[in-house]
Amino acid sequence: MLVSATEMLKKAKAGHYAVGQFNINNLEWTKSILLTAQELNSPVILGVSEGAGKYMGGYHAVVGMVNGLLQDLNITVPVALHLDHGSFEGCYKCIEAGFSSIMFDGSHYAIDENVAKTTELVKAAHDKGLSIEAEVGSIGGEEDGVVGMGECADPDECKAIADLGIDFLAAGIGNIHGKYPENWKGLSFETLDAVQQKTGDMPLVLHGGTGIPADMIKKAINLGVAKINVNTECQLAFAAATRKYVEEGKDLQGKGFDPRKLLAPGAEAIKATVKEKMELFGSVGQA
Ligand code: 13P
Repeated sequence: MLVSATEMLKKAKAGHYAVGQFNINNLEWTKSILLTAQELNSPVILGVSEGAGKYMGGYHAVVGMVNGLLQDLNITVPVALHLDHGSFEGCYKCIEAGFSSIMFDGSHYAIDENVAKTTELVKAAHDKGLSIEAEVGSIGGEEDGVVGMGECADPDECKAIADLGIDFLAAGIGNIHGKYPENWKGLSFETLDAVQQKTGDMPLVLHGGTGIPADMIKKAINLGVAKINVNTECQLAFAAATRKYVEEGKDLQGKGFDPRKLLAPGAEAIKATVKEKMELFGSVGQA
């Protein structure tokens, strides 16, 4: 059964580790992530962007697939199904469809409007037992056609949003989605420290987990990050493994064209990436 992400992230913050949010795109992705979480006895958050939700057929299809896998694969570790960077309308759709957690990304609104919309969604989510993440300071890079510049959040605005009753907070600290450019200046630990001091026990979320060096990840966890989002890294691992399979001509040998064979190396590559991240984040054995 799906659970909200509130308890697992409170535990993570108190225990100085982070739970990974891994974004899903299809059945292979979902199965690989769930099996790895179960094998490592780790809590996990499945992230679904609005684009990925649409790609998979819609939010009901996603909920049906995930719930079916939890049952058929006997997954017993805590799993949350979370809308990633949701719009105001998207949040309502996911609450209705049976997600267990949502993120409202109001970072592109003026702070007053972000506050008003977040306040309304906190009530809607909590009335149905879902957890809710909010964002302050837009996260750079491109996601679903939305390009952010990677600003650093204002700690006072973080406090204002945290006080609305949200369950965890994404604060921009110079992190960006996708690969980091050569001239990236690294995470702003000064901002993170200031945000944590203002927001106390609130679990903080680090987006753009792909390509952040291990020492920065550890430092961010020490400064209150309890949820780390990883998307691109699984995509790159899947694509590289699939490329290798095809370049080696394996799809042309026997029944190598069978999708169950063609997609198998990619699925294994996702498992390896998720395992590496769970070990780095410290969530192994914390279910
Ligand atoms: P990456 O694609 O950079 O790993 O970022 C994932 C993310 O933050 C999803 O919200």
